[in-house]
Amino acid sequence: MRKLRVVLAVTFVSLFGAAMASAQPSISYSEQKKVWLLQAGEQSYAFGVNERGELQSLIWGGKVRDLADIRPAKSLPERASFDLSTTTTPQEYPGWGAGLFTEPAIKATFEGGNRDLVLHYVSQQVDGDELRITLKDILVPLFVELHYRVYPGEGIIARWSVIQNKMDKPVMLESAAAAAWSLPRGTGYEAHWLTGRWAGEWQQQSAALGPGSIVIESRRGSTSHQANPWFEVDRTNETTETSGPAWFGELGWSGSWRITLETTSFEQTRITGGFNPFDFGYKLAPGESLTTPIFYAGYTNKGRGEASRIFHRFQQSAIFPGGDRARLRPVLYNSWEATEFNVDEPGQIALAEKAASLGAERFVIDDGWFGQRKTDNAGLGDWYVNPQKFPHGLKPVIDRVHTLGMDFGIWVEPEMVNPDSDLYRKHPDWAMNFPGRPRTEGRNQLLLNLARKDVSDYVFNWLDKLVTENDIAFLKWDYNRNWSEPGWDAVPVDEQKEIYVKYVQNLYDILARLRAKHPKLEIESCSGGGGRVDLGILRYTDEVWPSDNTDALDRLVLQDGFVRAYSPGAMMAWVTDVPNFLDRRVIPLKFRFLVAMNGSLGIGGNLNHWTEAEMSESRAMVAYYKSIRQTVQRGAFYRLMSPVDNSASATEHVAQDGSQAVIFAFLQAQRFGSPFPTVRLRGLQPDALYRIKSIDDKLESAPEVLSGDFLMHHGVNFNLVGDYDSSSIVLERQP
Ligand code: DGJ
Repeated sequence: MRKLRVVLAVTFVSLFGAAMASAQPSISYSEQKKVWLLQAGEQSYAFGVNERGELQSLIWGGKVRDLADIRPAKSLPERASFDLSTTTTPQEYPGWGAGLFTEPAIKATFEGGNRDLVLHYVSQQVDGDELRITLKDILVPLFVELHYRVYPGEGIIARWSVIQNKMDKPVMLESAAAAAWSLPRGTGYEAHWLTGRWAGEWQQQSAALGPGSIVIESRRGSTSHQANPWFEVDRTNETTETSGPAWFGELGWSGSWRITLETTSFEQTRITGGFNPFDFGYKLAPGESLTTPIFYAGYTNKGRGEASRIFHRFQQSAIFPGGDRARLRPVLYNSWEATEFNVDEPGQIALAEKAASLGAERFVIDDGWFGQRKTDNAGLGDWYVNPQKFPHGLKPVIDRVHTLGMDFGIWVEPEMVNPDSDLYRKHPDWAMNFPGRPRTEGRNQLLLNLARKDVSDYVFNWLDKLVTENDIAFLKWDYNRNWSEPGWDAVPVDEQKEIYVKYVQNLYDILARLRAKHPKLEIESCSGGGGRVDLGILRYTDEVWPSDNTDALDRLVLQDGFVRAYSPGAMMAWVTDVPNFLDRRVIPLKFRFLVAMNGSLGIGGNLNHWTEAEMSESRAMVAYYKSIRQTVQRGAFYRLMSPVDNSASATEHVAQDGSQAVIFAFLQAQRFGSPFPTVRLRGLQPDALYRIKSIDDKLESAPEVLSGDFLMHHGVNFNLVGDYDSSSIVLERQP
């Protein structure tokens, strides 16, 4: 009989994840073996203390039924004399020291010059679904608390670390990861990640993992368009969209970050992520501590699509403000593409009237309403209402928007300043800079150094005043450049690099305080499109603007990438004018609407130019969206046919309670007269009956009611022809 003493067992079944939760405790521990087992949905995760006292990674993958199945941790042997045991043994949080040649989780320089840091296990503490493990350097009181928060219902484990200096001297941290995750040993892994640029975010990349590292990162001070802190790793010959193992994770941090997917010479793949060590330096004074970003991860054996769905559900219930109780995203109108900076009272009211007639529920004035803002040359920093454009302030527009039955939102870019602004003339020292060096402008603007308390207080105060004095329901919070000259001369030289951490902490603090003081306020995170989308900012913002690219053909591909990592409900998607401003492409209105309906629907065209026929078609489209938005924003997303490198594509959203499913079919370009492929559905109840309703006459004749079984095996057929043809059907489950 196996002997096991479980000294601790905690079970938690969250309200919304009850169906997924197992009867197993979320955290269990064997004192005898010094092994911990964490259970989150389909995912099991285990580690233990080895004979040297290091915390060693043991298991990450599918369900382990019993802690008794897991062997105690035992370090791996040295290989020849070149790879020491510290390098061959996968640690949960390795310090750089004792001959570690793999990616360290933490690197430090101590007073006196020592740079050797070796962390050993000290103690553990469990609080509900959270486990805290304390590690300490073998010689000096530098402590690291490893936090593991288990979301049993959602299938996610969140990890972060708190580094504590209990010495009587300061220590300089040169890198600090949130966590390192170790995959089962072996070859045959494939990594997937997301890259991009302005107007071309969310491009899906894949590569086989072999000895060496794939590094995805931002050195730009914010999350970036360049790469998103999401990864998925699966088995090259085994994993598909619908089956096979997938390990996945996201870093919740809106500053410079790095994720290293490293395969060692001994076929051990490890994924380490946290603050970007590039230009990093954080001086911990005696008694001080540093908390890293949170690294969330999960596992499924049901393929890449399920990996995304697990994250979507988790974000909806545990990350987004308000969780499952949050209101659904309203249909929004935004005037940016219509008017750019030329906003004024009569023009905005005229657009608001037209937007309301379409069924819009929120009206947003974009850039141009403040200071001396006529182009992007001037005005950022001067957040008073421009008296020429709005001689009576914002009130007349807001009142009209309200009488039209919509709420009101406004664009802000609080972290920036134009040199041509009163704010800059008064406080040139508030802009990020290295004194005496040139200040490189991007879009004619500089960054305010939010790490400074006076600057972050100023930003909070004017935002608070704006929202208090005006009936504002929504802020579109923009951020239109990345960092240059990240100097902070108000603090001693050896603290100046802390700007990378303190800036982001203060940003989060401003957002948190604003939301606490104005609980009904909703916020969109925008950064020239999708430059700041991550699970850090999404704890404080209700939605994101994924791209300035509003061309519906490109959007299909961008959205396909976006929903790999993020819930469709968080994705604002506008229908805009044609020819599209970016590529002059002309796409039918229906196709543009159906593409945008895969997220939170918005309208961004110049309604003054829309014909009565277009207005009437749009009215019907908005009404259709309202009948399916709960399913799109909160349901389960299925990628039926990916638009990437395909001329035909299809998506499906299934309501959380299974009562409704919505299918969108797109024929981007018909080739050789090929008929549109049969669309086989997923995620339905096999034995339930569904009534099918089409928005048009494109569905090939079929019985009105079909079983889930039939729809999943034999599918439906659309008669889509030519270029940019599209359709949508709704399935209502019959009682
Ligand atoms: C960039 C955003 O992504 C756009 O939607 C728009 O708000 C402009 N900034 C305004 O300057």
